[in-house]
Amino acid sequence: MRLNEEQKQILDGEKGKILQQAMIDLVNYGTAMGAEEFVPITSAHISFWGISKVARCFPPRCRELTEKDIADFKESISSVRVKPITTINPGLVDLEKWREMGSTEATYNAAMETVEVARKCGILSTFSCIPYLVGNSPTMGEHCSWCETSAIIYCNSILGARTNRESHETSLYSALLGITPKYGMHFDENRKGTHLIDVQCEIENLSDWGALGYFTGYKVGVGIPVFANLKRPIVEELMQLGAAINVPGSTAMYHIPGVTPEAPTIEAAFGTNTPKQTYVFDEAAKREVYEYLNYEPEGKVDLVFLGCPHATLYQIRDICRMIEGKRVAKGTRLWIMTSHSIRASADRLGYGQIIKDSGSELYVDGCLLMPFIYTPAKRPKMDRVATDSVKQAFSVRRSYGSKMFFGDTERCIEIAIKGGV
Ligand code: F3S
Repeated sequence: MRLNEEQKQILDGEKGKILQQAMIDLVNYGTAMGAEEFVPITSAHISFWGISKVARCFPPRCRELTEKDIADFKESISSVRVKPITTINPGLVDLEKWREMGSTEATYNAAMETVEVARKCGILSTFSCIPYLVGNSPTMGEHCSWCETSAIIYCNSILGARTNRESHETSLYSALLGITPKYGMHFDENRKGTHLIDVQCEIENLSDWGALGYFTGYKVGVGIPVFANLKRPIVEELMQLGAAINVPGSTAMYHIPGVTPEAPTIEAAFGTNTPKQTYVFDEAAKREVYEYLNYEPEGKVDLVFLGCPHATLYQIRDICRMIEGKRVAKGTRLWIMTSHSIRASADRLGYGQIIKDSGSELYVDGCLLMPFIYTPAKRPKMDRVATDSVKQAFSVRRSYGSKMFFGDTERCIEIAIKGGV
């Protein structure tokens, strides 16, 4: 890769060991991907929880880290400042209600240590997978380095900003250096449609948008889908669509002609590409996705989980309309996940109290999948789980072996009140 003078100095170690190692790894990564140079970035979204985990992004990598290794790393990284606006994906625990979530004091302390180091580095501890709604919202054409598949696809498709599908490591290196290898989604020609998805059925609610996303990701894989005959969506629907595409698929972008910024028309969406294939999403295809994601759905439900990706204030308002004046059944939990800034707004608007009065929980800073996999948190009973999110329906079953109900938000709330399907 061609490096400028400053980048060469960093590579030679003149700006310290952390930046030198970040540059070594980013050069290796860029070389492997065929990049010839770096491009400056204005936005990063990273995974930054647990200093011992962050430390593993740097050498020594071939042995367990000692306490001294981690203490030394903490001191070194605390002296570095990130270059672009940098936010953090969900962590492991609600920083206020960690006890209620079944987490341990050690996990909470580790999370607070991360927040302290992040603050010194200039990283915003948003702990949310919807960075674009909590302060990190790049505009058309900005180059970025984001991790989190559901956020990456939103960044490219809806914001028109440009990021490849970055890992925990590469997004952190890019945040520290303010650059990313210029390849893939940073070039116009790689942002054009490759497959057409012809929507021939009603898309009525959030879970339908998720079902369409699952179908699309399964069919298109790493391609860029272009949707035809799709009604105008709202933000929450786009969030479900993008998150679900990347459950079976691995794509960084889609186009909806007349809606997404790089596709004023279907011709503009494809550019000089001819669609490799057209897939029809009809009632039968939709039913097939529901049948696949519903796995022994009938019976008592232990946990109803909403807020994947994190719930917006608008979703919380809708959930409150459905649950106000009612109670979640004994033996069933209703968990809604969001960001701490959205919970603060929800509390202020009275939604927090409605949720509390119903016996539900509005948790923040985390994600249902991670705490029980990566920490000794006490897992709630999850023999059968209900959700309106494709990503959760797929991942909870795979991670925990739960029986699953997948369906509309309203139906999920009815299940929480009744206690089962
Ligand atoms: Fe967000 Fe976790 Fe879902 S990171 S997209 S709530 S799986």
